[in-house]
Amino acid sequence: MTDRVFPDGFVWGVATSAYQIEGATREGGRGESIWDRFASRPGAVADGSSGSVACDHYQRWRDDLKLMKRLGVRAYRFSISWPRVLPHGRGTVNATGLDFYDSLVDGLLEAGIRPFATLNHWDLPQRLQEEGGWPARSTVEAFASYTEAVSMRLGDRVRDWTTHNEPWCIATLGHEQGVHAPGLRDPVAALRASHHLLLSHGRAVPVLRRNSPGARVGIVLNLVPGYPASPSDADRDALRRFDGSFNRWYLDPIFRGHYPPDVVEDHARAGLLPRGEMPWVEEPDLAAIAVPFDYLGVNYYSRAILRSDRIPEAENAPRSVEEAPPEERTDMGWEVYPQGLGDILSRVQREYRPREIYVTECGAAYDTGPGPGRRVADGRREEFLRAHLLVAQRAIEDGVPLSGFFLWTLIDNFEWQHGFTKHFGIVWLDRATQERTLKDSALWYRDVIGANAVDDGVPVLARRLA
Ligand code: GCO
Repeated sequence: MTDRVFPDGFVWGVATSAYQIEGATREGGRGESIWDRFASRPGAVADGSSGSVACDHYQRWRDDLKLMKRLGVRAYRFSISWPRVLPHGRGTVNATGLDFYDSLVDGLLEAGIRPFATLNHWDLPQRLQEEGGWPARSTVEAFASYTEAVSMRLGDRVRDWTTHNEPWCIATLGHEQGVHAPGLRDPVAALRASHHLLLSHGRAVPVLRRNSPGARVGIVLNLVPGYPASPSDADRDALRRFDGSFNRWYLDPIFRGHYPPDVVEDHARAGLLPRGEMPWVEEPDLAAIAVPFDYLGVNYYSRAILRSDRIPEAENAPRSVEEAPPEERTDMGWEVYPQGLGDILSRVQREYRPREIYVTECGAAYDTGPGPGRRVADGRREEFLRAHLLVAQRAIEDGVPLSGFFLWTLIDNFEWQHGFTKHFGIVWLDRATQERTLKDSALWYRDVIGANAVDDGVPVLARRLA
């Protein structure tokens, strides 16, 4: 097998988020989040679970750091729980909450692991939701104050910051589809939320630069490459509409300082914008949103195939309209399509020219659990990761400024509306005992990190015969 080598210094990481792993939702002075409230709604979460216990990471973080060190992980992408730091969203800081992240960062640095901190991974304080949430402009100022509090404390040691994780999910799944917190079904609220998420990103960047010398600041977008089901004008326009609302609605403002005109027109035609205008967008906003930032985080899971008579079901990564055969889909029903990662990376590089890109999430849900001897033989996850990493390595060779890869995710955790029914971890979680078990894919990833390379899976002999 041939090793495909990554550049020296390539950042090999794992990613998690606070609400999905911490638990301790009523401990240490933490306030309520919109996900605590949403998960308590009957039927909101498939198995009726919540993040109340999750992986008990709030108590077990030292053991989880040891797991990461054992795997040779170079960087850890985690999120900070806003309601743990500011229980009411603004005002008095909860010292115990900030102390937790202070200790976590020190532990990471002692372990030689680079902390990548995300400020908002969906767990908005419930009190702010009651004051209007992301559709309300007041939440922008609250986010800036939260950013100030966190970066004042951690900015001397955390140099890699992400403002928001996947604003599309927050705005669309949370405010239009209603399948994520806060569970609204209001397309105008979703548009307002998307704007205030982007504006708060722009307002947070200078705060982070001021409080964290040498900070590298980014935003993480879940980008989905779309492909027309046929060359017909109708299918190509379905693709334009999908790509516009899913990808360009976020890429264009942060890189170009304006919303995509064709999508604004789509919203106006749909009757969402009186006189085709967005009254919640104020004059200085777009310049603030387009403040220069240092890296784009790309979360990639699958592609979308667009046909004019069907729009993919909204998920973090919409299902392909052409349902791929079961063996080519993960347990989320998402098609395994590694080339889509290459396509979206090269497109972003070609059209938006980011300074730097990280794949901030890529991974797969497969429910393979412990077998004989408690071994977790999750070979499909290993193949998924190998295939995507080979595409990433080729993208780097083709000139994409890809600096790192964060595997989603370290440990099986609370998968939002799916609860604990989906397993994305390279570490198996026994929820009854909280015991962690390394899956085969974790050991494989450890070897990839150690070699800074991925084998192409083609036995040398087969290669010679080819
Ligand atoms: C996302 C979120 C993660 C998910 C993961 C699997 O990208 O949706 O960042 O929290 O758990 O993507 O769906």
